[in-house]
Amino acid sequence: MGFGADTEVGEAASLEDVRTFWEANPCAHETASASSDREYFLGVEASRYKDAPFIEKSGRFGEFSGKRVLEIGCGLGTDGAQFAKGGADYVGADLTEAAVDLARRNFSTRGLEGEFVVTNAEELPFPPDSFDHVYSFGVIHHTPAPPAVVAEILRVLKPGGTLTVMLYNRTSINYYIEIMFLRKLGRLLLRPSWGPKVLSACFRLPREKLEGHRQNLLRFPHPTREQWLSMNTDGPECPLSRVYSAHEVRDLFSQFADVETDVHHFDRSHWPIVGGLMGDRVAEMIGRRFGWCRMTYARKPAVGPPTTVEDALRVGTV
Ligand SMILES: C[S@@+](CC[C@H](N)C(=O)[O-])C[C@H]1O[C@@H](n2cnc3c(N)ncnc32)[C@H](O)[C@@H]1O
Repeated sequence: MGFGADTEVGEAASLEDVRTFWEANPCAHETASASSDREYFLGVEASRYKDAPFIEKSGRFGEFSGKRVLEIGCGLGTDGAQFAKGGADYVGADLTEAAVDLARRNFSTRGLEGEFVVTNAEELPFPPDSFDHVYSFGVIHHTPAPPAVVAEILRVLKPGGTLTVMLYNRTSINYYIEIMFLRKLGRLLLRPSWGPKVLSACFRLPREKLEGHRQNLLRFPHPTREQWLSMNTDGPECPLSRVYSAHEVRDLFSQFADVETDVHHFDRSHWPIVGGLMGDRVAEMIGRRFGWCRMTYARKPAVGPPTTVEDALRVGTV
């Protein structure tokens, strides 16, 4: 509950802080429970695509048959399994043993082929030009050096290869209203020792998480914007998270061609009464404008003949 004494939070978090958190909290592992591996992983999958149906469409999982696909931060391998089912030659990479063990079990129980590697995506162990497509969902905003991961994606993609990346969206209801406004108000109610118990009873929120948030407040009474954001996305112990606007992703992927970005996902479960009354169409419309998941699609520039005099001079053809 709360951070370890040595854990840094926000911009100061190290790769070790990030690894320690995700080793102990493999992503979405709590979204299902079952006695057999098969039932468990199918339960996680059903819950994921029911809560966020846009993932299947944006991920274009069936379009890479016979292509070499790398997933960065594969987690439990739920999306990876869709690439493998679609006939891709799939490689899942993750910082943690915990994720890779679970993803291997997921693939083996479904009889799917895939290769897995425990690695830091800031230094990928693959030669240049090795993959046709790189996919990464909810990962790069958690690593200490996102530009290093993006440079690695550029290096390992074949010329003309494509990427699909999800990063948390700055211009979202989650960021401006939930995290930066409502949760800051809630902070006042967490100060007294009885705060977590009362908030948990009134809003049906998990008491253990609220206790964690209270511990954080005691340790960081005046958190920076980055610390506050990091502690309020993937649970109170998550050391590092960032958010990106359209402008910021265009900067991050500036070396790629055909960069497109769109947003999805309004999580109704965060809005107790209103969310329950809201239909799928309305939730989808809100998500398409102010959603939490910013998808980016881009292509590594293909190597072609120089198109400008400057390029031609640089490569020595003039
Ligand atoms: C929020 S989970 C997402 C997992 C999966 N993509 C999903 O959507 O369920 C973040 C994952 O990113 C991994 N991760 C964080 N930093 C990483 C890095 N530098 N290199 C590789 N994986 C990383 C974590 O270990 C964790 O499994």
